[in-house]
Amino acid sequence: MDLDAYAASFDGEPGYLDWAGFGPLSPTVRAEAQADTELLGSGRRTSLDLVRDHAREARELAAVLIGTTDATQVVLQPSTTYGLMHAIYGLAGGLMLGRGEFPSLTVAATRASEALGSIQLQWLEPQDGRITPEVVRDALTDDSRALAVSLVDFRTGYRADLAALRDVIGDRLLIVDATQGFGVVDVDYTIADVVCAHGYKWLRAGRGTAFAWFGDRALERIAPVLSGFRGVDGDLPIDTVPPPSSSAQAFSVAGPDALAAARLATALREVSAVGIASIETELAARTADVMFFADRYDVPVITAREPERRAGIVTLEPAPQDAAPLAASLANHGLTVTARSGQVRVAPHVGTGADTLRLFGDALAAFSATRVW
Ligand SMILES: Cc1ncc(COP(=O)(O)O)c(C=O)c1O
Repeated sequence: MDLDAYAASFDGEPGYLDWAGFGPLSPTVRAEAQADTELLGSGRRTSLDLVRDHAREARELAAVLIGTTDATQVVLQPSTTYGLMHAIYGLAGGLMLGRGEFPSLTVAATRASEALGSIQLQWLEPQDGRITPEVVRDALTDDSRALAVSLVDFRTGYRADLAALRDVIGDRLLIVDATQGFGVVDVDYTIADVVCAHGYKWLRAGRGTAFAWFGDRALERIAPVLSGFRGVDGDLPIDTVPPPSSSAQAFSVAGPDALAAARLATALREVSAVGIASIETELAARTADVMFFADRYDVPVITAREPERRAGIVTLEPAPQDAAPLAASLANHGLTVTARSGQVRVAPHVGTGADTLRLFGDALAAFSATRVW
């Protein structure tokens, strides 16, 4: 599949600008899910095995997109949060993380620290929410053992500079929640130690399609505290409790959902064929389009202007009295966005067409015409 065919495969209704919330499923994912559902209904061993094999395929494809060929370092997860919990509960020592991170991180870190007593939280609280190398450098102490950070901040759309963060933290663990960037931005994930993401937004694969990558250092240092019976090597452990696997498989609880794995594999195959670099370039043009209209109608944008510091999210922060009228105008024009805490998060994707952008411009024009300065 090439970029044009990929863009053309976005067959949802115009007006959808909420890819950071949920990604409507791609046609190939829908077709695969239907076909596999039929196979699972057949009762034939070969058909069941065929569907089950998608778990292996999904891990292999995810590994390649991470930047490794070692699929044993990738483990499927029901959701991003599960992967992050496996990583965080297995830590010891100081854990640096932003107070404003998506609650997958903040809640897991707080619960783990309270339950185990072996993790000390080192909260980062930058004014603008950006976890920059400077912010991390200032917070670093001799006790710091890990940094957990979003690749792309779910609120502001700020894309962290993983290479610069790595320079600051040295060989401490770098745990990355890549949910808001995986599949749309070209990143060297092998700079990190743990990467967790899911497929129900930017990958268009639906729920249940998450995975986690644990690199060598992570496998050495993170204890598989939440490891279940699927986290062992070999067959079902009966009448014996073997140690957890030495691979990333240790960070699993029960068996994966083969239908979800099939959707994930299909989505990953699609973006691999198109190429992440060209997807990133095209998406940067769509977010620039959104910023163009925001600038034209004087709606403040808090997302970074440099393409390398953003991904697919553009966040608008109108004056407090303008937030409700802006959200209302967007809704009245048939646009789907996330309006929260006075901010409007606009998230286009590669296939966001001129029709949707025109509606967006019209909505901002109508809002601007009624604005009281
Ligand atoms: C940055 C980030 N992390 C984690 C999540 C939650 O992911 P999941 O539902 O797969 O646990 C979200 C969902 O919006 C998110 O934006």
